[in-house]
Amino acid sequence: MGAGGREHALVWKLRQSRKVDKIFCAPGNAGISQIARCVNIKADNIGALSDFAARNRISLTVVGPEQPLAEGIADEFQKRKLKLFGPSRQAAKLESSKIFAKEFMRRHHIPTAPYKVFSTAAEAIGFLKTTEYPIVIKADGLAAGKGAVVVRNLDMATKTIEQIMIKRELGEAGERILIESFLEGQEVSIMAIADGKTILPFLPSQDHKQAFDGDRGPNTGGMGAYCPTDFVSTDMMEKINEYVLQPTLKGLSKEGINYRGVIYAGLMLTVGGPKVLEYNCRFGDPETQVVMPLLKSDLFEILQAAVSSKLSSINQLTWRHEYAACVVMASKGYPGRYATGLKITGVPSKPDNNCVVFHSGTSSDGDRLKTAGGRVLGVTGVDQTLQLALNRSYRTVNKVRFDGAMYRKDIGFRVLKRDEKK
Ligand code: AMP
Ligand code: GLY
Repeated sequence: MGAGGREHALVWKLRQSRKVDKIFCAPGNAGISQIARCVNIKADNIGALSDFAARNRISLTVVGPEQPLAEGIADEFQKRKLKLFGPSRQAAKLESSKIFAKEFMRRHHIPTAPYKVFSTAAEAIGFLKTTEYPIVIKADGLAAGKGAVVVRNLDMATKTIEQIMIKRELGEAGERILIESFLEGQEVSIMAIADGKTILPFLPSQDHKQAFDGDRGPNTGGMGAYCPTDFVSTDMMEKINEYVLQPTLKGLSKEGINYRGVIYAGLMLTVGGPKVLEYNCRFGDPETQVVMPLLKSDLFEILQAAVSSKLSSINQLTWRHEYAACVVMASKGYPGRYATGLKITGVPSKPDNNCVVFHSGTSSDGDRLKTAGGRVLGVTGVDQTLQLALNRSYRTVNKVRFDGAMYRKDIGFRVLKRDEKK
């Protein structure tokens, strides 16, 4: 379920499984429709989705976006004895309530930035006068990536609190907020599959959230990613497992939550070790577009094992020992307002396992491909080094055209710059 680049990458990978016969995608996009049957049901229509799954005897439903999980799609499917990969509404609170996530981390001693919770603007503004800057202000609820603001002084902090808590610019999401310390370091994404008892991490990746080169401009859903990221050494991955992933799974289980789905930890690698910035209860986008092309194991087997609580039977995941780099091509104006319906040309028609074009926001009109979203395409190259992988994606990006296409020219720059200095 879903309509973006993440879902295209999941469908593309599931398609390669010998155990998968038919794939339906609700609602999908033009790229997904080339490899699966798209059905016109939106992600928020839980009733229609579960009816569809029952009627078509879908053996496994995989949920892409967070919203339906936060609204309880897993609970509804479970009630109807339909198999679904994704956590319950209660467990999805790890993503849908930042305060829930923080309190959970505090209870289970999971490293994260110190914080305070506020339910009135007056209290929050009172606190602002007593603290040092920068700090981070976060709305409690889901806010499509707009819920966290790094503020550098009292003036900016006061304005942010007013926008969130008085003007309610993020709606209900801003009923309560948290204010936390600013952490410095490299930000990385760790996605792992859990079945309630076992947790199996994927390779670490790094996203690029800001719209423009050099990490400038507004925050977006993600303008590109690469995998694996060398910022996470084997030693660091062990620490992440010991201090973050295992305690998260144990904590959930102690609280009676049988978590079957993705646990995605957004981490800051600080001098004091890895700290959790946020949890997501689903696959990351664009991270999934770089992780799937490197995964050799059968994704269907992994997800099937997770929903049947048999993940421990899969000892290890196997990977291509290469790098993947994804460059997102977006509409002019994204993440703000943008036009849709623009003609796209130049997308290679032949499938290529070393350069895949995943569709994020596209639709088709007969043979014609058109833009249909903010993020339009994600072009993933795979090769022996990160630089070679990037070269492959940019070669394809340079062939694709649509009016006002925007993309970052510096994906991977943080690690490439570090390696230059060595
Ligand atoms: P979140 O919605 O909590 O993931 O925050 C969105 C983005 O804000 C993160 O991806 C980080 O880049 C940044 N951020 C969040 N919390 C912190 C923090 N405590 N210190 C520094 N940056 C942060
Ligand atoms: N790329 C960030 C996310 O999926 O939340």
